[in-house]
Amino acid sequence: MSNDTATTPPAADKAGAANTRKVFIKTYGCQMNVYDSVRMGDALAGDGYVPTDAMEEADLILLNTCHIREKAAEKVYSALGRLRDMKQARQADGQELMIGVTGCVAQAEGEEILRRAPAVDVVVGPQTYHRLPEALRRARQGTRVVDTDYAVEDKFEHLPVTEKARIRARGVTAFLTVQEGCDKFCTFCVVPYTRGAEVSRPLHQIIDEARRLADAGVREITLLGQNVNAWHGEGPDGREWGLGDLLYRLAEVPGLARLRYTTSHPRDMDDRLIDAHRDLRSLMPYLHLPVQSGSDRILKAMNRRHTASEYLRLIDRIRTARPDIAMSGDFIVGFPGETDVDFEDTLRIVQAVGYAQAFSFKYSTRPGTPGADLPDQVPEDVKSERLERLQALLLKQQAEFAKSCVGKVIDLLLEKPGRNEGQVIGRSPWLQSVNVDAKTSQIGDIIPVRIIGTGPNSLFAEPVRDVIIA
Ligand code: SAH
Ligand code: SF4
Ligand code: F3S
Repeated sequence: MSNDTATTPPAADKAGAANTRKVFIKTYGCQMNVYDSVRMGDALAGDGYVPTDAMEEADLILLNTCHIREKAAEKVYSALGRLRDMKQARQADGQELMIGVTGCVAQAEGEEILRRAPAVDVVVGPQTYHRLPEALRRARQGTRVVDTDYAVEDKFEHLPVTEKARIRARGVTAFLTVQEGCDKFCTFCVVPYTRGAEVSRPLHQIIDEARRLADAGVREITLLGQNVNAWHGEGPDGREWGLGDLLYRLAEVPGLARLRYTTSHPRDMDDRLIDAHRDLRSLMPYLHLPVQSGSDRILKAMNRRHTASEYLRLIDRIRTARPDIAMSGDFIVGFPGETDVDFEDTLRIVQAVGYAQAFSFKYSTRPGTPGADLPDQVPEDVKSERLERLQALLLKQQAEFAKSCVGKVIDLLLEKPGRNEGQVIGRSPWLQSVNVDAKTSQIGDIIPVRIIGTGPNSLFAEPVRDVIIA
């Protein structure tokens, strides 16, 4: 998963009356947090909150946080320091500013946040954000609230159904969380502690949500889960379905032209899922399948429960099923005990796979995870040097992949207006941003374009002919 920071206006309906309250949500971390921010916005809409993307004009600021690396968690406290000043200034003017912390730092640190950050009114975990309006009501009455239960009720059953206009305003691509939590316990990772045990949403909930998204004009859905390919549920045939079955079913939803899913664990790539890549035209040929390291010794210490050659064999099978598939991955350098030889193995596996896209990180010690107690922690300067070498290789592969697209005719989903008048930004099957001359009225169409050039973070294309192909 990517861990970029993004600002997520929960919806673009900005037609609030003068005395409606405004909420600003800052999203850190992975796509699951992006999805959660959207749903939190929906939950708050019932209380009259409208979204704003200007923090200064908000009556409520939510930081939807990430705990994956130390830096991510630290960012939250420095942001809270700045917000304290803002709140004090606001109070001096006799105005309200409420501050909430949600997401994985909220789950991991709970009460500690109230202690360290006096400006915070509510702390609400990822499993309880359907209770956010209630927590805010209590806070307004003077009780600071920490709600980080692993709720017994299903939050999805309690969240309001998103209105069509709100979905439409968000665009033609959407995330849909199908699975949460993780039982894998990789020794470096906080997710099993912040998000709890693996839970799959029931099939009917997912199909209903996918239908509603498609009815509102969404063309591409990315199914989300910390371990999305561990999704399972009871099918209408009474059989236990896996993610492959779910994708075959979603491919039948009218209007949905494209499907993706992220993030997968190599251990859960079963035959049915690989078959789906072979059979489903709407399943995009792009797969994020993190390996973390190329060294069997380190993979074992990380508790990934597969070897480097098992991973490579798996990729062979996936590529046999879908030869044009582009691979993406995550890597950690400097896991405790990683030697130069181990690191060379990581470079070797990268060479062997050839990634179109990748995310790489220096190992960050997370309190409470087994990795934190391991001997032979790798010095920072060694981590930095390894990260630099790995990133140079990954960037080279990324550039080669982009270049290999030049000259190809591809299907482009037109997504949003481009920087210049008369330009639209689209999304390639391989998740690249592509600039093309088109009308904004065409947004949502999938058109054939020819890739004619590459830029630093995007591609350039020209329309091939003026027809809609999906
Ligand atoms: N569920 C996903 C990963 C979620 S976290 C999976 O299993 O692949 C996203 C990425 O953050 C991980 O793939 C890993 O590369 C990185 N990451 C997780 N914990 C980390 C840590 N302690 N230090 C550095 N990177 C970490
Ligand atoms: Fe973390 Fe491993 Fe679970 Fe991914 S599979 S969320 S890396 S514990
Ligand atoms: Fe971060 Fe939580 Fe996602 S720790 S990566 S926001 S699951």
